[in-house]
Amino acid sequence: MVLSLRDVELSLQGNAGMVDILHGISLEVAKGDTLGLVGPSGSGKSSLLMLMGGLERATGGEVKALGNDLTAMDEDQLARFRRSHMGVVFQSFHLIPTMTALENVATPLELAGVTDAFDRAAEELKAVGLGHRTDHYPAQLSGGEQQRVALARAAAPRPDILLADEPTGNLDQATGEAIMDLLFDLRDRHGSTLVMVTHSTELAARCDRTIRLVDGRLDAETRNAKAAE
Ligand SMILES: Nc1ncnc2c1ncn2[C@@H]1O[C@H](COP(=O)(O)OP(=O)(O)O)[C@@H](O)[C@H]1O
Ligand SMILES: [Mg+2]
Repeated sequence: MVLSLRDVELSLQGNAGMVDILHGISLEVAKGDTLGLVGPSGSGKSSLLMLMGGLERATGGEVKALGNDLTAMDEDQLARFRRSHMGVVFQSFHLIPTMTALENVATPLELAGVTDAFDRAAEELKAVGLGHRTDHYPAQLSGGEQQRVALARAAAPRPDILLADEPTGNLDQATGEAIMDLLFDLRDRHGSTLVMVTHSTELAARCDRTIRLVDGRLDAETRNAKAAE
């Protein structure tokens, strides 16, 4: 299993004491599978995704990625693991504003020790249709273009696991559809395992499987007979 969660609990310190966010989550995601996470706002979808990506630490249970127990890793080990195995895309893009599109994509490659990081980054930007925008800063790009840069950045290190948190949430319908096509295309080209939080029933239907969260618990699982390409 690429991802394997067992009895996962997450409680975080809030202003008024501990907040219990996730309760007894167990699930598995096989290699190449695409899982959609759906559910009402505040149900814990983003928190669950962050646990899978090692960006948040479970307070109980076990989170395994590619056979490695993320709950047993220290911060350095987690950072290294994320760099080589995980690509994450957020609703609000999370690009570094002081870096050009090219620098945003090349920097994680450099950190991962790729020698031709800038050439690779340029190729990745071309692959998402932004070959002509490499020297632009995020503020000079539209939302859809910024998300293309974020996709290129996430995909450039060829991660085994792609995580996306409402990647089209800040985009208009047509732009969002183009971004989704790119995301599914990346999955196909690189054989990545994809876990995606989405509010869109259309997007959920494109996943092999969807899991619904309610109040931090697994509520229902749907296997889509024929995930549309
Ligand atoms: N850092 C935090 N500290 C305390 N509570 C949090 C924190 N992050 C999220 N929460 C709470 O956890 C619950 C789930 O949040 P989240 O995972 O963002 O849900 P979703 O993505 O499904 O909207 C919410 O009630 C939210 O207020
Ligand atoms: Mg969320």
